[in-house]
Amino acid sequence: MRAYHISGGVPLCGEVCVSGAKNAVLPILAAALVSSKPSVLYHCPDISDVTNAVSIMKSLGCEVERNKDRIYIDASDIRSSDISPFFMEKMRAAIIFLGALLARFGEAKISQPGGCKLGERPIDLHLMGLRLMGYRCEYQGERLYCCAEKLRGCTIALPFPSVGATENLILAALRCPEEVVICNAAKEPEICDLILYLRKCGAHICGENTSVLRICGGRTLLGAEYTVMPDRMEAATFLCAAATTRGSLCLKNVCPEHTCAVNRMLCNAGCKIRQGDGRMEICCDTLNAVGPIRTAPYDAFPTDAQAPMMAAMATARGVSVFEENVFSDRYRHVPALLQMGAKIRATGRCAIVEGVDRLHGAGVAATDLRGGAAMVLAALCAEGESVVSNIFHMERGYECFAKKLSACGAKIRITE
Ligand code: UD1
Repeated sequence: MRAYHISGGVPLCGEVCVSGAKNAVLPILAAALVSSKPSVLYHCPDISDVTNAVSIMKSLGCEVERNKDRIYIDASDIRSSDISPFFMEKMRAAIIFLGALLARFGEAKISQPGGCKLGERPIDLHLMGLRLMGYRCEYQGERLYCCAEKLRGCTIALPFPSVGATENLILAALRCPEEVVICNAAKEPEICDLILYLRKCGAHICGENTSVLRICGGRTLLGAEYTVMPDRMEAATFLCAAATTRGSLCLKNVCPEHTCAVNRMLCNAGCKIRQGDGRMEICCDTLNAVGPIRTAPYDAFPTDAQAPMMAAMATARGVSVFEENVFSDRYRHVPALLQMGAKIRATGRCAIVEGVDRLHGAGVAATDLRGGAAMVLAALCAEGESVVSNIFHMERGYECFAKKLSACGAKIRITE
């Protein structure tokens, strides 16, 4: 089984070029199916979630060519709007193909999406919005069949600003001949990236970066050339890696404003961060506990950065408190950190982290994408050797993770 072998104790030092954002490229790939005209996407990360998204597109009859970070998509010959459970269970973002297929064909058949296990991940908000627009959604055994009946303009008030539901509803609304308003929409930068791509294709959508989106559908979309935004979660992970190892890193291809909440917390903890145009430099000598670190929708502290931040706080001076408010089971990395000598008590939404002087190496298994990244960060600062297995989790979302870390001095290698 593939694993990272890590010899800890080396402060990271060097430059990291941040890749295109996983959570932006996946919905944009799905969106490229809405038009029958070709699109070209740049800065697409080489991660297995993108490979899986491309497989889904090809399985539907779409022509996709991937060349380094460029993906060419020609969806003119799509023959099917049925995604096999084999692909659906590989990643959460497969659910976004539902909205794209509905926009293009007025019908789609999917099943429950897979992805990281972070607690219950229902799709009730997606279905509520689709039904309000006039889509019929019904389960046929394990499979979900949706089709357009009489579509109508409507206002969808989301009880929670779900990222996935907002993306799906934006896409499905493109078929609706009247205005669809989404209230309490997610404001994550990846939603804005999706809207900017769709607008380049000719869609009429306004309100990006606000919680009210207006979509005027019923238009024929063209394709577009589009460069995917930088991955703010990869940036946040490397910022936390510099803090965890008391190192200094220069991150290139970043939007500093996208990681504001993480930057603020790390600065409060004693890191020095300098921001420039598309770059950030972080330097960390000593790390103090901060808190409370409360996760919430953008622009609060992101749930995806909670685990990497916890790895940093595991050896900070003092006690920090985490409150996870987005997912019900997102402390699955804690047992691995405990095995490395961390002092953490996690109950319900809360985790109390008492900083220890040092961690020690251990053999641990990644539980999910960000939790696995946190284990790698902890191993990088731990005394001795660690083995982090199940690295397919990290390979879903971090491009060349080990390579980028070792370019900054980390002693990390992959074994098969
Ligand atoms: C996306 C991101 C993920 C990030 C998360 C929150 C992608 C591919 N993934 O996931 O990295 O951690 O946003 O920022 O972009 N919920 C419901 N009903 C629904 C939909 C969601 O109850 O119909 C709940 C979920 O169970 C969860 C919370 O809402 O507790 C947040 O989910 P959501 O914002 O939808 O996250 P994802 O789109 O799954």
